[in-house]
Amino acid sequence: MSRSIEVCLTPELVHLIDFTDKLVIVVDIFRATSCMVAGMGSGIESITPVATVEECLNLKKKGYISAGERGGVKIPEFHIGNSPFEYMQPDLIGKKVATTTTNGTLAIKKSEEAAEIIIGSFLNFNAILEYIILSSRDVIIHCAGWKGTFNLEDTTFAGGIISSMSQLKSESDASYMSRILWKKAKVFGLEHLLMNSAHAHRLQGMGIENDLQFCCQFDEFNIIPKVVGTELQLI
Ligand code: MLT
Repeated sequence: MSRSIEVCLTPELVHLIDFTDKLVIVVDIFRATSCMVAGMGSGIESITPVATVEECLNLKKKGYISAGERGGVKIPEFHIGNSPFEYMQPDLIGKKVATTTTNGTLAIKKSEEAAEIIIGSFLNFNAILEYIILSSRDVIIHCAGWKGTFNLEDTTFAGGIISSMSQLKSESDASYMSRILWKKAKVFGLEHLLMNSAHAHRLQGMGIENDLQFCCQFDEFNIIPKVVGTELQLI
């Protein structure tokens, strides 16, 4: 039987999809999973995604670097916010990081039924494709979206992955829509398309255009962060 690849457009839809035995790729392009890939690709030892600010502060007391945001804004008591540039600082090399974000860490938590959870972004796009090719599992791309709703950037990423995997079966309208978005990205340019997304507008208001441009780059890191127990590790 041929393998399948599907997209879950938001964490609100997980109850409609069977994650059992699946390889799940969690994606939050702006910016949680881009930060995770940039940080682990730059030498962070592990990242522990947690659901709440309180859990993150508890891990801070145990010596973790605390990271994350709510609504895109850094939590005042945390060491760093949710910028890939903060995650790539040399003084984080070899450190353990705990993070909580509005949507990205929630999507990881809501993937827990899966056989394997890995972290995707444009920054490790090709590494993700290679991992899928070598796997024997059916695949679900779990888009973090925004507060339970669909978003452009994560769905475009899903379209890019699914379009590159034409040997895998993918029959839903969600998958078809994601591939249409990917075609648009190829015509207009990925960055141009995604700069018109709602979250890009939100973040532009905070003056962090560099983050957005960085998150639209391909294959800066040839790595796969994977959920192992409670934390992300490189495999
Ligand atoms: C999230 O998890 O919702 C995001 O990464 C928000 C952000 O841009 O900081």
